[in-house]
Amino acid sequence: MTKLWGGRFTKSAEEWVDAFGASIPFDQELVEEDIEGSLAHVKMLAACNIITEEEAETIKNGLEKILQKSKNGSLEYSVQNEDIHLNIEKFLTDEIGPTGGKLHTGRSRNDQVATDMHLYLRKHTKEIMEVIKQMQQALINQAENHVETLIPGYTHLQRAQPVSFAHHLLAYFWMLERDYGRLEDSLKRLNISPLGAGALAGTTFPIDRGYTAELLGFDGIYENSLDAVSDRDFILEFMSASAMIMMHLSRLAEEFILWSSQEFQFIELDDTFATGSSIMPQKKNPDMAELIRGKTGRVYGSLVSLLTLLKGLPLAYNKDMQEDKEGMFDTVTTVKGSLKIFAGMIDTMSVNTEVMEKETHSDFSNATELADYLASKGMPFREAHEVVGKLVLQCIQKGIFLLDLPLADYKEASSLFEEDIFEVLKPSTVVARRNSAGGTGFEQVKKAIVLGKKKLEEK
Ligand code: ARG
Repeated sequence: MTKLWGGRFTKSAEEWVDAFGASIPFDQELVEEDIEGSLAHVKMLAACNIITEEEAETIKNGLEKILQKSKNGSLEYSVQNEDIHLNIEKFLTDEIGPTGGKLHTGRSRNDQVATDMHLYLRKHTKEIMEVIKQMQQALINQAENHVETLIPGYTHLQRAQPVSFAHHLLAYFWMLERDYGRLEDSLKRLNISPLGAGALAGTTFPIDRGYTAELLGFDGIYENSLDAVSDRDFILEFMSASAMIMMHLSRLAEEFILWSSQEFQFIELDDTFATGSSIMPQKKNPDMAELIRGKTGRVYGSLVSLLTLLKGLPLAYNKDMQEDKEGMFDTVTTVKGSLKIFAGMIDTMSVNTEVMEKETHSDFSNATELADYLASKGMPFREAHEVVGKLVLQCIQKGIFLLDLPLADYKEASSLFEEDIFEVLKPSTVVARRNSAGGTGFEQVKKAIVLGKKKLEEK
């Protein structure tokens, strides 16, 4: 079969080599963007009198038919036609005859593929931003239910100070807020049109790049044709933002896995998001959370793979760049899917408030309170730390916690202690009093929820 670019070749390619070089098995994902870009290009060609209105109309109708066929699933792509661009051009000439060959006037596959990918990523970035909002909403909803639910707070995975469960959940709200911002910001640099840069150097035809940019909803055009066809920064930015999203999800996944274990029993995931074991009848595994934690790896991998792919490439287009696509598609699917699953898991999980609350009474995470108490009565903090450290040791030796120690023992350790320490030591007091800005105090958490809701409404 002759290639669309077969003119200067004397030998036809071998099928297995074609198969190796082809991107059609995966870049057919770009079919709609490719046709959208071509429709804009052809409209511009006619407006600039490069082709006639009639020819443009014929091409437009042909492309629309192909789009329809694509939607019906009746397009039969072929590896001989290498990629989505050549496949569509072939369908077009089959459909409308030699006029189809005019579509490629003043254009190269190099600016074409770049245009497709900008369009694709713009659409999916916006979709992912929407799903981020869904997950943020789920976090806010649960936070509203659990302002006064207490949970042990950890550092080094050792009990540190109790916190409001809502406060813990909202930490992820703010991570996602930054993720959203990063994607939003990336759109500024992504929404630029490479179309009309040609193969690398522009074209001799009197095209209007501004017009195609406008038709495609871009905010402007690449100023340099070499840059336009060789730039993949917009994909890298998307992938970096995605890697960070996955890192955040993976951390929350890890917490969900721990919290739903027998050892913690803080939450129970809804049956929809858990699976059983084929051998152990008692099991309920947090598979979805584990998968999200696992899938983080492939998103990092795609980012590193694209960075590596690009680092040694001379200007302008190189075939290596065909390898930019699968990782991008995979990242879109993975990030979107993971966010959706997480939103669902958060919405439907049940929270064992009693277990959490009980746990905050079964540790020494109120010890800081005691040291602060002494310090506020004038004892230097270091000295207070020492006094409390000894009291903790005393409790450990007796197998009790600070709230169980009699006042007499406190008084023996320091005459500054009074009856009111028992109120101070209650986990709910410990949390309520941390009312500094951004702290876990209930008043602060309520404020954070109001602010979070406002952020969501503004988007
Ligand atoms: N399939 C190619 C890709 O995805 C399209 C661009 C090909 N350009 C070329 N000059 N071979 O990168």
